[in-house]
Parts: sequence; C-alpha cells; structure tokens
Amino acid sequence: MTHIDLANKTVLITGASKGIGQSIADYMMQMGARVAVHYNSDKKGAKTLVDKYPDTQSKIFQADLSKTEDVITLFANVIKAFGAIDAMVLNHGVFLQHSAQDKLDDWLSVWKSTMAINLDAVGILTKLGIEHFRVQNGGRFVYIGSRAVFRGETEEYLAYAASKGGLTSLARSVARSFGKDNIKSFVIAPGFTRTQMAEAFISSYGEERILSEIALNELTKPKDIAPLVALICSGDMDHATGATIDMNAGSHIR
Ligand SMILES: NC(=O)c1ccc[n+]([C@@H]2O[C@H](COP(=O)([O-])OP(=O)(O)OC[C@H]3O[C@@H](n4cnc5c(N)ncnc54)[C@H](OP(=O)(O)O)[C@@H]3O)[C@@H](O)[C@H]2O)c1
Repeated sequence: MTHIDLANKTVLITGASKGIGQSIADYMMQMGARVAVHYNSDKKGAKTLVDKYPDTQSKIFQADLSKTEDVITLFANVIKAFGAIDAMVLNHGVFLQHSAQDKLDDWLSVWKSTMAINLDAVGILTKLGIEHFRVQNGGRFVYIGSRAVFRGETEEYLAYAASKGGLTSLARSVARSFGKDNIKSFVIAPGFTRTQMAEAFISSYGEERILSEIALNELTKPKDIAPLVALICSGDMDHATGATIDMNAGSHIR
C-alpha cells in the first residue's frame, strides 16, 4: 500500500498552535515531514505538538504576524534553523468583528488589524518564499482562504472576507507568474470548521443554525482538512496549481 511520504520535506506552517494549522502540522509530522510550527501566544499548543514527534526534528517558532519585523524574522529564523523550506502553509488568521454602524475610527481599526495579519503578513511571506523557492528550484504554497470569498459574508466580517479575497488573488497570481520557476500555489477554502475561531459564532448563532446550512450531518473538523494539505505538499497534485479547493461540507457548491 502506498501512502503520502513527506520524509524529506521541510514545511513552514503558520498558526500551527491550534485549530486547522495544528491539525495540518500533526498530520504532516505523522507522514514524516519536518515542520516549522509557528505560534503567536500559544506556546504550549505548539510545543506539545512538536514533542509528540521528536524523530521529525520539528521546531517551534514564535512571531506576532501583525508586525512586519516579526514576519521577516520568522522567515529568517526558519531558514537559519533548517537551511531550506520545501513548502509554506499560510494558515494563521483572525476573524475580527466590526459593524458598518460603528464609528469610522473603530471600524477602521478592525479593518487594519485584519489586513495586517490576514493579508500583509501573507504577502510578505509570499515574497520571501518566492525568492527562496527560485534559488532552490521550486516549492509549494498552500494558502488557507475561506468560503466567504465566494459566498460573501455577513456585515460583521467585511474586513475578513476582503482579506481572504486578497489572499486568494495573490495565490492564483503566484501560480501563473512562477510556474516556470517550479513554484506551485493552491488555495483551500474552508467553510465553517469547528475550532476556537468558530466558537464565538457557534455561541451567538447556535449549532443548529450552522448544521442547517450544510449538506452533511456534522460540522467540518480540522482533521478533515489536513490530508489535502499533505497531498498538495507531496507534489502529487502539482498539475492543479492555481486551484482553489472548497472544503465546506456542501454548504456552498459552485
Ligand atoms: N474555523 C473556521 O470556521 C474557518 C473557516 C474558514 C477559514 N478559516 C481559516 O482557517 C485558518 C485557521 O483558522 P482556525 O479556525 O484554525 O483558527 P484558530 O483556531 O483561532 O487559530 C488561529 C491561529 O492563528 C494564529 N494567529 C492569530 N493571530 C495571530 C497573530 N497576530 N500573529 C501570528 N499568529 C496569529 C494563532 O496563534 P496563537 O494561538 O499561538 O496566538 C493560531 O495558531 C484561518 O486563516 C481562518 O481564517 C477558518
């Protein structure tokens, strides 16, 4: 029986201390990958994960990705520790609320924070990743986007939806621009997924309402997303470069 073998791959996964990123990192370490497990505040979540797979020589890296200098330092630290990166999973993100009825300053503050973390950091890591991948004859980007890009979001999440729209366009443009450099780029667009990020939404709207919107009988869990990321990083999906793959339990089929 064949299985995904990531034994010779080094992968940077942002926001891997919990939720979707943690599950992706866990799955990829099971497949043998050496993972740069990035976290911001949750060192325990990151360390517990890395300690489970000592043979992979994975390591944890702290960075507040709302700060440009931290984004640049994160990339430099990973290269310093591991020498090279084969794939980058740009997963970290925030889901901040604002309302069109808020005062402009308050609304703008949420917009700017969201863009700094969800889009600016992703853009900088993409630029640094392209430079690195070009020198080492290729690499893969996996961007964690959102169903919100295609379905639209409710008014509390305008900044969030816009940030993920930017991320999606960036990923597609990387695929078209750098394919000849052997660089591949993919987007995964999850729908509602049971993580800490989703808890506030579940408590405000109730699980029944969310279940009524999806085609399947249960909410998507982080572990439902992880195998696809591992498959992409293995190289077996390279001819789908530029694709956005929906993972939304049939709640938005396009
Ligand atoms: N859950 C959903 O329903 C859903 C749906 C569609 C798309 N997504 C996307 O999937 C990705 C993962 O979401 P999730 O649900 O797994 O979220 P989560 O459980 O809240 O985890 C978010 C991760 O992002 C990191 N992060 C947050 N702010 C950061 C900052 N300023 N600097 C650096 N890292 C930061 C967190 O680090 P620390 O905890 O260490 O601080 C954490 O590891 C996000 O891009 C999200 O937009 C989620």
